[in-house]
Amino acid sequence: MKPKSTLFRAAEHAASYLDGLSTHPVGATTTADDLRQRLALALPETGTDPARVIDDLVEQTRGGHLGSAGGRFFAWVIGGALPSALAADWLTSTWDNNAALYACGPAAAVVEEVAGSWVKQLLGLPMNASFAFTTGCQMAHVTCLAAARHSILRDVGWDVEADGLQGAPSIRVIASEHCHGSIERAVRFLGLGKNSIVALATGADARVRPDTLEASLVKGEPTLVVLDAADLNVGAIDPFDELIPIAKAHGAWVHIDGAFGLWARASKHAPRLAGVELADSWATDAHKWLNTPKDNGIAIIRDSSAHRAAMSVSAAYLSSLGGVRDQIDWTPDWTRRARGFAIYAAIRELGRDGIADLVERCCRFAEELANGFASIPGVELVAAPTLNQALVRFIHPDPCANVNEQDGWNDKIIDALNREGTAFFSGSRWTGLRVMRISVVNWQTTSDDVVKRLEAAKRVIETERGNAIVPRPA
Ligand SMILES: Cc1ncc(COP(=O)(O)O)c(C=O)c1O
Repeated sequence: MKPKSTLFRAAEHAASYLDGLSTHPVGATTTADDLRQRLALALPETGTDPARVIDDLVEQTRGGHLGSAGGRFFAWVIGGALPSALAADWLTSTWDNNAALYACGPAAAVVEEVAGSWVKQLLGLPMNASFAFTTGCQMAHVTCLAAARHSILRDVGWDVEADGLQGAPSIRVIASEHCHGSIERAVRFLGLGKNSIVALATGADARVRPDTLEASLVKGEPTLVVLDAADLNVGAIDPFDELIPIAKAHGAWVHIDGAFGLWARASKHAPRLAGVELADSWATDAHKWLNTPKDNGIAIIRDSSAHRAAMSVSAAYLSSLGGVRDQIDWTPDWTRRARGFAIYAAIRELGRDGIADLVERCCRFAEELANGFASIPGVELVAAPTLNQALVRFIHPDPCANVNEQDGWNDKIIDALNREGTAFFSGSRWTGLRVMRISVVNWQTTSDDVVKRLEAAKRVIETERGNAIVPRPA
């Protein structure tokens, strides 16, 4: 069988999967045991026709994919893929260049140059900042914080690239109490240790307060400050224009976790992120709000020399041509996927207007969903969306229910909503309580989805409340 026939088979399967996204159950419909039974063949001793491999793979995994690519998925913060970005991603695998060096993939290197420049323009960040396309925001944090570590220690006379961290001055990491777990992981990967993190208590609006930050800073102490744009539960955006000057006055490096929220800079919500451009580094994702397929994070760093010093490598067999972008100088990877194609395609497909519209639409739908849930008896709005994230809590029908029972009730309702099949939500914990998170971050979500999901949710919640056995008062 020629490769072409296999690709056509894959395209047919892909088209049929995408067509089914708006009607098929959004949650998985099979179990781990079932998937194991279907997939765990004995190690193949002989080969199989490639088209058959693909056909079988589709059958073997049927029901085991969450419909996060579609518009009825509101769990975690997982974007869908725009058609051109998905297609560009297929072509990226087809071309299969190693986007480590210009010499290994000239088009891949140039497309990254262009896409990186577009991203900085869209996000309103310094045009002379360097950037890297990484696997996701997690590795974008690692890239940015490696540059931060280099710069902070260089400023106190320590060459971390040469001498490592043994005997080095310690670095304090100051971050919001709501910072994402990927920050702690990046700090661990970089050898700073999670105990170097000072968690800042936030105000009721979940944002870091200037006086709290000021009180935590010690002049002359090597410090990294991490701020949120935005936090993953309620979309809280730290007041950058107040906080960053304070951190800078103490000589700190300021890093922004903008995994999804930084894209609000490309919309009418931009003023809410005023001052974010004053930071030293920014980590975000294309695979969240820009809606490229997964494996597309973005690191942007003001001090390009620190960035390069932290990442670059030289080896006799590398062929650096000069005057062109060698991605290996900026990313933590060696052999790597040519991520620029999907990012380039997504930005071209939407344009600046389309990106603004996507962000604004998602925010509007998040608000409609949150308000719609809050109008259902037995549902309480915990956090109205400030962007595209909201929290609701389901009130146990038994007014005497204790906190554990309340939490269990929330899990029960989330499970019932997901089993109903026409939408998918996930739980979270907020101020110690179990809640349901609503996240809208997919170009495919429509007003009709919102209306129909709310009708379905109302039915499910009414049924669950009707079935609940509430002890009668003695
Ligand atoms: C606020 C925030 N930061 C960082 C991350 C990590 O991003 P990634 O999964 O792309 O590594 C996430 C993921 O949801 C997030 O919401």
